[in-house]
Amino acid sequence: MKNTAATFAAAKAKGEKLSMLTAYDYSTAKLEDESGINGILVGDSLGNVVLGYEDTVSVTMEDMIHHGAAVARGAKNALVVVDMPFMSYEVTVEEAVRNAGRLMKEGRAGAVKLEGGVRVAEQIRAIVKAGIPVMGHIGLTPQSINVFGGFKVQGKSEEAARALLADAKAVEEAGAFAVVIEAVPAALAQMITDAVSIPTIGIGAGAGCDGQILVYQDMLGMFSDFTPKFVKRYANVGEVMREAFANYAAEVALGAFPTEEHTYKIKDDVLEKLY
Ligand code: KIV
Ligand code: NA
Repeated sequence: MKNTAATFAAAKAKGEKLSMLTAYDYSTAKLEDESGINGILVGDSLGNVVLGYEDTVSVTMEDMIHHGAAVARGAKNALVVVDMPFMSYEVTVEEAVRNAGRLMKEGRAGAVKLEGGVRVAEQIRAIVKAGIPVMGHIGLTPQSINVFGGFKVQGKSEEAARALLADAKAVEEAGAFAVVIEAVPAALAQMITDAVSIPTIGIGAGAGCDGQILVYQDMLGMFSDFTPKFVKRYANVGEVMREAFANYAAEVALGAFPTEEHTYKIKDDVLEKLY
């Protein structure tokens, strides 16, 4: 079944949970799509897990377009959501709409995602008005790492919890079709989920959300620079890769690869003429 912003909204009404994973390339997107994942996020976590930066601040529009288009070519049924990178939507509403449009036209996104609640409500409203579905992202918003001063759980005090609830409502009211809630106590994420009509997609926000999202390298055990508490490892693909790479290197060193089955032949009489 083809997933769209509309089917995401409908899933909440039907009480159906939504699964999302990140992807940054064609091959991975295709595997996720074939697995029946509802949505694929081309996250700006690209900066961390693909490009090797310490944070997402350096990720550019060109990066997101490049990887967005690759993922879109691999996704048939999953909704492809592409992250708006840091400083592509903060300065003016006009710039936000223009950049969201580029992610749709050049990045082949089905929807865009941007970080923030009340502070970006105006941008969300304008982008939606332009005919572009928007996913919100509240709680821990990694593009603001330099304000937070680290990756910390959000919404723990009464004041912070009220602000988060206000952010969720602002995102909903601005016309977003869904909202990511990151690193928030489960009971608060549940309260927010009950308070808004749009689906909440949790990451480190407990089972009460309407859906879940994980960075695929985290859940496959392919990224070990840091592992947040909320990551569950579904496989140790990193180990499998390391072992395969080492076996290959050893066989090449020994001359054990390639053998005849991986080798092309030329007819003996042709070869004789060459001598
Ligand atoms: O960039 C990303 O991968 C994200 C998810 C963690 C929600 O924004
Ligand atoms: Na992101």
